Amino acid sequence: MMKNRTIGSSKLEVSAVGLGCMGFSHGYGATPERQESINLIRYAFELGCTHFDTAEGYGAGNNEELVGEALRDVRDQVVIATKFLIRESSTTDPADKQIRSHLEASLKRLGTDHVDLYYQHRVSPDIPVEEIAECMGQLIREGKIGGWGQSQATAEQIRRAHAVTPLTAVQSEYSMMERMFEREVIPACKELGIGFVPFSPLASGFLSGKVRVDDQYQGDDVRRAITRFDSANIAANQPLVDLLHRFADEKHATPAQISLAWMLDKEDFIAPIPGSRKRERIAENLGAAEVEISASELEQIETELAKIDIHGNRTDEDIAKMRP
Ligand SMILES: NC(=O)c1ccc[n+]([C@@H]2O[C@H](COP(=O)([O-])OP(=O)(O)OC[C@H]3O[C@@H](n4cnc5c(N)ncnc54)[C@H](OP(=O)(O)O)[C@@H]3O)[C@@H](O)[C@H]2O)c1
Repeated sequence: MMKNRTIGSSKLEVSAVGLGCMGFSHGYGATPERQESINLIRYAFELGCTHFDTAEGYGAGNNEELVGEALRDVRDQVVIATKFLIRESSTTDPADKQIRSHLEASLKRLGTDHVDLYYQHRVSPDIPVEEIAECMGQLIREGKIGGWGQSQATAEQIRRAHAVTPLTAVQSEYSMMERMFEREVIPACKELGIGFVPFSPLASGFLSGKVRVDDQYQGDDVRRAITRFDSANIAANQPLVDLLHRFADEKHATPAQISLAWMLDKEDFIAPIPGSRKRERIAENLGAAEVEISASELEQIETELAKIDIHGNRTDEDIAKMRP
């Protein structure tokens, strides 16, 4: 039985580990056949996953169609989270009008009349967060969205937005390789009662311990732009992989499971969404919810992590350079 977590003021109930669906259409190179992707999403549900993450931008809407089709028969038993991206400068329409038209298109592709969690994919430099929050409040009152969130927001942006319409979740990069949001954002979420949904919780697969120096990445695969995957950095990050293997052996778990169990154990409002296109890895990642880490084990992990330098990172700027 999968454990659940309740996040945010909208009291959204999600499985402790969710499924990031981006890779079925976008971001990690060759994608599976459409039917295979649908089968894999349904497989995650069968294993108890109830939190599915997509975005209008993944595969130009194709990912929302896949997720919607895969979950149609169990729609009322799952949380579908999707995201919009608007920039004021791209049109003269007010933000509210733009968001409504993005949401209508997403609902159509998902084949549903509401989205459970609707994120602003990136906080716009041109539009005050209060204006977005106002619009989200209206959409919640209309029943078109269950709750809303921001992605990669600062603590200040979170506080300002939350004061207008309480946030259900903040979705940002978080893993043993990227801990910048531990400083201000995660404490702000804790204080305000907002869920924190880590994306790339396995650092794009690095923390599975299965990455090899000679692995090659093709096409739209973001690992071409994530500097942790440069050969020199793969070698330099080996101490982290060794640490994960050591704890995994002790706990009869896998490095990926230890990475996820570590963050699940830290706070009860953290609900990661690892992504995989492989049946056994989906089961492995969801299985992390069963791995218990004691307080003394967590302390040991933290002590060891503090001694390890991380080489390389993931930035939007590096990823943007991949676009033609
Ligand atoms: N808000 C944002 O800006 C933002 C940005 C990025 C992602 N996201 C969301 O967050 C989700 C998760 O991010 P992510 O996909 O980068 O997460 P991730 O789980 O850290 O990385 C996914 C990568 O790791 C591999 N992988 C996953 N589990 C594995 C395992 N057990 N063993 C070996 N390799 C494994 C996958 O390969 P295979 O597929 O080949 O197994 C895939 O290449 C996305 O799907 C998306 O929904 C949001």
